Amino acid sequence: MMEKVFVFDHPLIQHKLTYIRDKNTGAKEFRELVEEVSMLMAYEVTRNLPLEEVEIQTPLAKAKSKVIAGKKVGIVPILRAGLGMVNGMLQLLPTARVGHIGLYRDPDTLNPVDYYCKLPQDIEERELIILDPMLATGGSASAAISFIKERGGKNIKLMCLIAAPEGIERVCRDHPDVEIYTAAVDEKLNSHGYIVPGLGDAGDRMYGTK
Ligand code: PRP
Ligand code: URA
Repeated sequence: MMEKVFVFDHPLIQHKLTYIRDKNTGAKEFRELVEEVSMLMAYEVTRNLPLEEVEIQTPLAKAKSKVIAGKKVGIVPILRAGLGMVNGMLQLLPTARVGHIGLYRDPDTLNPVDYYCKLPQDIEERELIILDPMLATGGSASAAISFIKERGGKNIKLMCLIAAPEGIERVCRDHPDVEIYTAAVDEKLNSHGYIVPGLGDAGDRMYGTK
């Protein structure tokens, strides 16, 4: 199971994640840090994109050099908190298409409730990266992956900032084909389904709604 899980231990990512977790970090800085970490993670998540050789002319000579091959990328934030990870990704992948999936977690049942879905038309041809900072019970991520698969998406990765063991297990069980990229695996969920130590409610901290 864990062979599908990649935890980023790069010092820059770990350093920034510490300030994202800190409850004294305000919404503006929180958003900036989430964007920065997402950009750093984008670098690793795209490591296996296929390359192809092209011929170019430098000021001195003709040269064979590499560009990313035809494979197109789609990034799919889960609303709301996933939105905070989009710009960081787009800085490195400016031509990626962006789909949106709206899900919120019912506070009593912890089950995901869907309210929006708009995906690029050609998702079956794209390498898709789902963005959500928190993988808690895994209900939201698993539902988002199912949504995408029902609409033809095949090649799917999940990128989050903090994952709970329960969420990893759920996604690996429901979708064994999906790789999970995260900056941290935390200890556990509390009785309200929050990740401990985590960072609190990602959407509220990002948008100042609590
Ligand atoms: C948070 C988070 C994930 C979900 C994770 O969203 O951004 O989408 O909870 O929990 P799960 O793994 O148990 O499903 P939330 O439901 O708070 O919605 P919001 O982003 O709109 O605030
Ligand atoms: N959603 C969040 O925003 N935070 C958690 O810890 C769990 C779910």
